[in-house]
Amino acid sequence: MKKEIIQHPDHILRRVSEEIPLTSLPNKEVLEMIKDMKDTLDAEEDGVALSAIQIGIPKKIFIVSPKAFDEENEKEAKYLICINPKIIKSSKKTKWLDEGCLSIRNIYGEVERSNQVTIEAYDENGKKFTRGASGLVAQVFQHESDHLNGVLFIDKAINVREIDPSKNVL
Ligand code: CO
Repeated sequence: MKKEIIQHPDHILRRVSEEIPLTSLPNKEVLEMIKDMKDTLDAEEDGVALSAIQIGIPKKIFIVSPKAFDEENEKEAKYLICINPKIIKSSKKTKWLDEGCLSIRNIYGEVERSNQVTIEAYDENGKKFTRGASGLVAQVFQHESDHLNGVLFIDKAINVREIDPSKNVL
């Protein structure tokens, strides 16, 4: 079911999310939460990823829309589900990238992000995976990992300004 996306400056967005017990996976509660997150993100035309905290659940999980992978010309038919994600490698090379957030509507800024990152995470069945990314997907991994730590892009951004509505929102 589609949920309301919590908006800054709601303090819930500042909570550090808790790890999901892996031995309990798969379970109904987590599967339902994933379904709600997909329904919520699907309703946002410009959204490419969502963390559970953005629908008020302080659990370490984010989902990445197939749209994010399309931009990188990587074929990905499904949502990428990342439970208890950890960035285990980040490139020293960085870039200042334009960034927005579904929880901070109409605001855009530039954030310094690593060009490449590798995450380690678990899928909805509790199966561990590692995934490297560059471009938009690398930016998404860093932005969503920040959400799980209660960090918002505006904490790091420069040149914060009104949004161009045609851009992707993470
Ligand atoms: Co966001």
